[in-house]
Amino acid sequence: MNDLLDLGSGMTFEVDRSHVGWLTFDQADAPNILSNDVLRAFDGLLAQLESRIANGQIHALGIRSGKPGTFIAGADVKAFAELESASAARAASAEGQRIFRRLQRLRVPTVAVIDGTCLGGGTELALHCTYRIATDRPSTRIGLPEVRLGIIPGFGGTVRLPAVVGLQEALQIILAGKPVGARRAGRIGLVDVVVAPERLARELDDFMTLVLSKRVPEQERRSSLATRLLEGTAIGRKLLFTMARRRTRQEAGDHYPAPLRAIDVLEESHGVHVDEAYANEAAAVGELLTSPASQNLVYVFLLSQQAKRALPEETMERTAEIGKAAVLGAGVMGGAIAELMAANDVPVILKDIDQAALDSGMRHASSLLDKAASARVFSPEEASLKLALITGTLDYEGFDDVDLVIEAVVERMQVKQQVLKEVEAVVPEAAVLGTNTSSLSVTGMAQILQHPARMVGIHFFNPVHRMPLVEVVRPETADEVAVATAVRFVLDMGKTPVVVADRAGFLVNRLLSPYLNEAGRLLAEGGGIERIDAVFTGFGMPMGPLRLLDEIGFDIAEHAGKEMGAAFGDRLATSDVIERLIESGRLGKKNGRGFYLYRDGRSTGADPAAADLVCGVTSGGDGALAAAPTRFSDEDILGRCLYLMVNEAAFALGDEIVTDPGMVDIAMVMGTGFPPFRGGLLRWADDVGIREIRDRLEAYAADLGPRFTPAPLLRQLADQDRTFTHSPQTPLP
Ligand SMILES: NC(=O)c1ccc[n+]([C@@H]2O[C@H](COP(=O)([O-])OP(=O)(O)OC[C@H]3O[C@@H](n4cnc5c(N)ncnc54)[C@H](O)[C@@H]3O)[C@@H](O)[C@H]2O)c1
Repeated sequence: MNDLLDLGSGMTFEVDRSHVGWLTFDQADAPNILSNDVLRAFDGLLAQLESRIANGQIHALGIRSGKPGTFIAGADVKAFAELESASAARAASAEGQRIFRRLQRLRVPTVAVIDGTCLGGGTELALHCTYRIATDRPSTRIGLPEVRLGIIPGFGGTVRLPAVVGLQEALQIILAGKPVGARRAGRIGLVDVVVAPERLARELDDFMTLVLSKRVPEQERRSSLATRLLEGTAIGRKLLFTMARRRTRQEAGDHYPAPLRAIDVLEESHGVHVDEAYANEAAAVGELLTSPASQNLVYVFLLSQQAKRALPEETMERTAEIGKAAVLGAGVMGGAIAELMAANDVPVILKDIDQAALDSGMRHASSLLDKAASARVFSPEEASLKLALITGTLDYEGFDDVDLVIEAVVERMQVKQQVLKEVEAVVPEAAVLGTNTSSLSVTGMAQILQHPARMVGIHFFNPVHRMPLVEVVRPETADEVAVATAVRFVLDMGKTPVVVADRAGFLVNRLLSPYLNEAGRLLAEGGGIERIDAVFTGFGMPMGPLRLLDEIGFDIAEHAGKEMGAAFGDRLATSDVIERLIESGRLGKKNGRGFYLYRDGRSTGADPAAADLVCGVTSGGDGALAAAPTRFSDEDILGRCLYLMVNEAAFALGDEIVTDPGMVDIAMVMGTGFPPFRGGLLRWADDVGIREIRDRLEAYAADLGPRFTPAPLLRQLADQDRTFTHSPQTPLP
């Protein structure tokens, strides 16, 4: 190799004996990102290359990453948030396109070597190379996830992808925003060669020899007759775009404009001059990036990154990886938590006191691993190896070298304290003890321990394999390193941690509590089951509050309600609605009878009898219920439930459950599915207007009871005409 040239921004360049230039991306302390600095340095290199190629010094260019597990993770999303106008966004897109087209026009063959994550701008860079070679390790995922940020690919992805893989595959990849693995990429022609990671160096050498001798076999896209008809004829393409539009409308609805715009761009750009196609793309990026949906999605994305760096680096550095763990209680949560650990290659002991419960927990874990294998997250062989990492037991054998225990036994303080006392006696002194409790005091559990500083909350949401949020509960007694270990563990499990203080309901369940209660009250006032739920699904929630109560189970909801009532008084006490339903033998989905009826776990529709049963039920907690069904608008339904949720967030911020309103937003998006295109609860509240919400709360308080009384923080923000989340942000009062 010739001398290594340092291009800055983590990029180096060198030329080997065969006159192949090698550009390596290896940014310090972060995945490789195409920031403005990186793009500028890349552009500078291309300028140099043009003359060295003209002089015959370089015969091919290879582009690779020095970072294990990542090729290039995408463009710099933080920079998106700084683009203030459609024209600035359009110009940024056009600049990226210009640089990548410059790469494409080099007069030598170019090869992208993809060994790890390759997303967004990384994929677009690779698409502008002559060839792509990829390893088939699981972390090699290639995709264009831009629609998830409310935009479309902006560095030429909508032009190059259809050219490389055809329209149908391009539509699928761009509209779903989901990356594909190397094997599929190979099958559809997105990459030219797929190799095992351990053979990469050799195969790359061989491939470069073919490239230099211009003997790379032409890739023939074998297309079926149907594909040829659909993609190769005007009428076929019209049908293809119509079907894509219909499916997208059904799946994404009207709240997410980007996928529909992507279809427009692909359609408009088909068959036009390539310059026009690139211009269409940049214009659409300009429009979309400044749309409220995209700004909110970018805000949520940046918050999720921020949540991952919640604790100081010095503290995180003092944590160790969890080498072995244990889960106590093999119920709904325990089995699923053990599966999550095994899926992430952590050996785990799953303990219960009851053989039947243990068997059922093991079956649950096994079926989740099977499902992941059918979804090709890993192979069936890997699934059985992972299952072998879970050891079921009824005693404490093997606990002497665990690094972490998560307690997920029944929700009773005495039982939890007893179990934790037992386990503390058999684990190493450095082991961290975590509880999955939803509503009990973690401090109360720590109290009975010899070493209370090791006790934290690690609160997963149900279903564990799907819900991305985990609340890490920090009791005042906890050691920072124990909290950081929990955070690191959550990150290693691929979840997003939000660190919260130890108060009843923590953050998410506390905020859900008034929202669910109010939905019950609205039903008692004659709101109608389907109507109430439809208002919220129309707003963008994944399900309405009554459906959610069915999922949670009325017994659990009642229990949680009692804890909340005890902690916060009438404001969060449950209405009598749930009690009435339980008395009549309804528990929700689990026994097939809730607000909806279920057969074999599937809903068969709302049950008007459930509505009749609660109609006119007088409320518990505060505030009398209107004797006769009241008339209210959809706006009232939404406002009564959601303004109460916003108000409770203001109380929770006042109590310092979290101190950053952004963490409320990320927790509600990831823990409840609060619509990300609205940016989360408090970003939405800011958009409605804090004064408007205060005024509405006051009006409701006068009509319906003091549970609507605005929180001091909310009042203060309204008085000062401030917002929760919009920058520039001065600290909350
Ligand atoms: N189910 C949910 O939606 C959910 C969500 C978040 C958190 N949680 C919390 O997770 C915990 C477990 O909930 P679940 O729904 O899995 O309960 P579950 O009733 O399904 O399971 C509890 C398991 O604990 C076992 N158990 C009881 N005493 C034990 C002991 N001394 N040692 C070992 N095992 C013992 C029981 O046999 C049972 O298998 C609770 O604290 C609950 O509040 C539940």
